[in-house]
Amino acid sequence: MPALKNDRYLRALLCQPVDYTPIWMMRQAGRYLPEYRELRAKAGSFMNLCQNPELACEVTLQPIERFDLDAAIIFSDILTIPDAMGLGLHFETGEGPKFERPITQLDQIKNLPVPDPEQELRYVMDALRTTRKALNGKVPLIGFSGSPWTLATYMIEGGSSKSFTKIKQMMYAEPEALHLLLSKLAQSVALYLNAQIKAGAQSVMIFDTWGGMLSHQSYQDFSLRYMQEIIANLDRGIRPESGTQGYVPVTVFTKGGGIWLDKITGIGSDAIGIDWTMNLSDARTITNGKPIALQGNLDPSVLYAPKNIIDQQVEQVLTEYGAGNGHVFNLGHGIHQDIPVEHVEQLIASVHSRSKRFHQ
Ligand code: CP3
Repeated sequence: MPALKNDRYLRALLCQPVDYTPIWMMRQAGRYLPEYRELRAKAGSFMNLCQNPELACEVTLQPIERFDLDAAIIFSDILTIPDAMGLGLHFETGEGPKFERPITQLDQIKNLPVPDPEQELRYVMDALRTTRKALNGKVPLIGFSGSPWTLATYMIEGGSSKSFTKIKQMMYAEPEALHLLLSKLAQSVALYLNAQIKAGAQSVMIFDTWGGMLSHQSYQDFSLRYMQEIIANLDRGIRPESGTQGYVPVTVFTKGGGIWLDKITGIGSDAIGIDWTMNLSDARTITNGKPIALQGNLDPSVLYAPKNIIDQQVEQVLTEYGAGNGHVFNLGHGIHQDIPVEHVEQLIASVHSRSKRFHQ
């Protein structure tokens, strides 16, 4: 494999010095890009894009070719695992994901298989292998998975939810059933992420999009604990004192998890994603003394604003983090689908130029 030409993202994850703050964006390959919409129309559906390694590679590279981003994230979805478990994933236009066979009872959970990543999820591994090669060392490639809790919400609710009534009902009325599902998912996610690492992912991220819907104690019992188990089972290699060679850092992101940051710092991740509700200076006070990087946290809606406001808001995020190592710039959640591409260009240029003075 060719040497990495830009390792700023990996260095920042390891709290090592960089010349400017690296940036990538959650959902950076997607509908706000005209070239994505075109390819998606040709492919017929989102899942066709995900399941064809050449097309998934092409979509992954679209934002990398257009912008000066510091990392690529493999084009896929967190719901590949439940689909591989047999729940029957499909996307209905304008309605988001749906499962044909959602989980309703304990018997179903007992019978759920743990997917073999090189069998049922081979298309994801092939996409990673193809993309890693095509990147040719330009920037690092990020692999990812959903957290067990977040995957379970879709599997039990049958799709997206606002109130999470079914899964919470199971959580309070039949906690053992939910724990069984979460431990099967934790096992599946660990296998999946390790296979992604073998297939070429240079860092991995766990998306816990719905952890913030839990109460203080249930977050720890039903989300955090299973992410900790996954991290303990990852083949990351040995964290180097200097350089990044061969080590695969892991980032966890609980949307709405700022209030539990002290707990999240204890589960062994190299970096923590922060949404826009938290001040990075306060976040840094909590992680202070630990070698943990922070990723975030511009409000994605800032990208609707004119360029001078984007500059101001970038400046604010950079200043809140302050001087020193360990910051990966990102949005506090995924980019919206109607953001003008020129605003993304402005964001990236602004982060790169304005961050230099924090790295002197
Ligand atoms: O970040 C990237 O560019 C990589 C690709 C990526 C997608 N989904 C592509 C996608 C990643 C990392 C995800 C993760 C994901 N998927 C999460 C966790 C992150 C988050 O956003 O909270 C979740 C909760 C999902 C589940 C999911 N997939 C939903 C709810 C939807 C519908 C959303 C919508 O806006 O319609 C998807 C579909 C999806 N995943 C799209 C993309 C680009 C839109 C597909 C399309 O219609 O073209």
